[in-house]
Amino acid sequence: MKKLLSIAAILLSLNAYSGQQTLPENTPVKVESRVDNVAITDNLPADAIATYPTRGKAIARTFAEQPPLIPHKDSYSITKDKNGCLTCHSWDKAKRMKATPVAKSHVIDDQGTVNGMNYFCVQCHVAQADNKQELVENTFTTK
Ligand code: HEC
Ligand code: HEC
Repeated sequence: MKKLLSIAAILLSLNAYSGQQTLPENTPVKVESRVDNVAITDNLPADAIATYPTRGKAIARTFAEQPPLIPHKDSYSITKDKNGCLTCHSWDKAKRMKATPVAKSHVIDDQGTVNGMNYFCVQCHVAQADNKQELVENTFTTK
């Protein structure tokens, strides 16, 4: 038992040091490869984590028939057996979850059974983060 505990302690302490270290800008990082030692000096900052509008607020639509934008994260899993989005947006749960029930156009009966064609929600609905970040630098101007 004692041995087990000390192994656990060692693992824990190893874990504490394995996290990503923040290096001061332009500190060369030594990467050893089989070819040569390469000093990487270009330390790019990590991308900002997406922040979403406060839950409970729909985003105004910009054109008719637009699939409304998702004002929250979109990483709920959708599998054959379970649709994470429907845990809040299905007709029977939406009211309790304070979410808009899926549109009438998405269902095939008056029980709110979702049409197969509308099952994979994120095919049409996309999340919008507040802190938008360009994926690719763009210098386009209209002038
Ligand atoms: C934990 C509950 C919950 C889950 C899970 C969830 N939502 Fe939402 N959703 C909400 C709430 C609350 C709102 C804000 C109220 C509203 O507009 O429906 C919202 C808003 C939306 C809207 C905007 C509706 C409008 O009229 O503008 C869309 C679209 C949406 N969600 C799609 C999705 C999709 C797609 C998924 C799965 C990837 C999902 N939601 C998972 C709770 C949830
Ligand atoms: C094929 C594209 C498509 C798919 C897939 C889809 N939607 Fe939609 N959704 C739309 C469009 C277009 C609208 C707006 C027009 C309408 O209401 O039919 C809409 C409207 C909505 C609304 C707003 C309803 C209202 O009354 O304002 C919600 C909520 C929603 N969808 C949730 C979902 C969820 C959850 C899923 C997955 C189970 C899903 N949608 C799958 C296209 C799609």
